[in-house]
Amino acid sequence: MGNMETVDLYLHNAEQVVTCASHGPKRGPAMADAGVIERGAVAVKDGRIVAAGPAAQLDGTVTAERVIDCTGRSVCPGFVDAHTHTVFGGDRAAEFELRIKGASYMEIMAAGGGIVSTVRHTRAASVDELARSAAARLDEMLALGTTTVEIKTGYGLSASDELKMLQVIEGLDRDHPCDIVPTFLGAHAVPPEFEGDAEAYTRCVVEEILPEAAAWYASSRFAERGVPMYVDVFCEDHAFDLDQSRRVLEAGIEAGFKTKIHVDQFNSFGGVAMALELGAASVDHLDVTDRAEIEALGESGTIAVPLPAVNFNLGMTDYADARAMMDSGAAVALATDLNPGSAPCPSMPAVMAIACRYQRLTPAEALNASTINAAHAIGEGEEAGSIEAGKRADILVLKAADYRHIPYFFGGNPVQTVIKRGRVMSL
Ligand code: NIG
Ligand code: FE
Repeated sequence: MGNMETVDLYLHNAEQVVTCASHGPKRGPAMADAGVIERGAVAVKDGRIVAAGPAAQLDGTVTAERVIDCTGRSVCPGFVDAHTHTVFGGDRAAEFELRIKGASYMEIMAAGGGIVSTVRHTRAASVDELARSAAARLDEMLALGTTTVEIKTGYGLSASDELKMLQVIEGLDRDHPCDIVPTFLGAHAVPPEFEGDAEAYTRCVVEEILPEAAAWYASSRFAERGVPMYVDVFCEDHAFDLDQSRRVLEAGIEAGFKTKIHVDQFNSFGGVAMALELGAASVDHLDVTDRAEIEALGESGTIAVPLPAVNFNLGMTDYADARAMMDSGAAVALATDLNPGSAPCPSMPAVMAIACRYQRLTPAEALNASTINAAHAIGEGEEAGSIEAGKRADILVLKAADYRHIPYFFGGNPVQTVIKRGRVMSL
């Protein structure tokens, strides 16, 4: 930085600036270091970070239009929520109560409830209705510190309804301060018109719906701005088997999409190995993944994304073995999986709190998993997820002086101020 550069915003005197800085995702043992600068400062110009370092070094090198005094507070990157189903119609509060009374998620799904019930409500909703309810969820996520969000389709399950969801997702990216990354999840469940015939529906996804999604993407604002599109599939009993899942992902690759997979949530039958072979960007859930596949994950470039809000919300006592994943050298990311069934949860701090307690992530590991690694899981690793010169100025001022309060002091909102693309949000 030159002498006395003029910047738009200067975060001054933070007890800690937690950078999460890294070349590429943080793998295994590297996740233990969150990159804490004691008594730090951050300078922002034109929506980008221009400098971060000890206040003693930066003070006196910048004049700022606006200064935020961070005395008694810590500063960290905006959270990246790498797996959500934020767009949906209706809710599933009744199923929540059924589950409390003993029904399982899979029983409800097999009985025509679950995802398919949300499909009915999503199909019945207009673009405007879906956009309004999703924007309200994004508002809440932003207030809780999430500044970049992956959003999946998957409650339309016909060409026109999946395109409707994509249109809503594009509108959110245009109109909401959060940056959005789109994922096509046409193979989320078998819709009522194809009941009992996952095979016929898989052909419909591959031959009809996915090509329309690809055509949509090509002229979308995402393609225009260089934001990638992902294809995802629910690889599970009562959803899509290994071969069907592979065909959907391969069709996505063919169309120029990157890949993700919902895998090993309840049953494990080779989905992780298959996804690694296809070079998936991430493999998500991983609750029952076996040792050999965890080892393979550690040797791959694929990011492991456990979703512990799901286990918590389904009242499960078993959690994905995130420690084994880190021990194998994998890069672990966290996400809410926000959806109306298995995870009605907008809060990354809540997810970190659960991961620390039940998966024994340290606060540093949980923060890296929710920022830099999550950004890499959705192709945003060069733009977001850390406090480094050149990145988008997506920054949180926390209420506490110590970032460990994010997962430690649970159930509330640890965020004092959200800065999105250099703008101080009033929330
Ligand atoms: O990630 N497992 C499949 N899909 C979602 C749940 C979606 C829903 O229940 O509506 C998940 O858990
Ligand atoms: Fe999901």
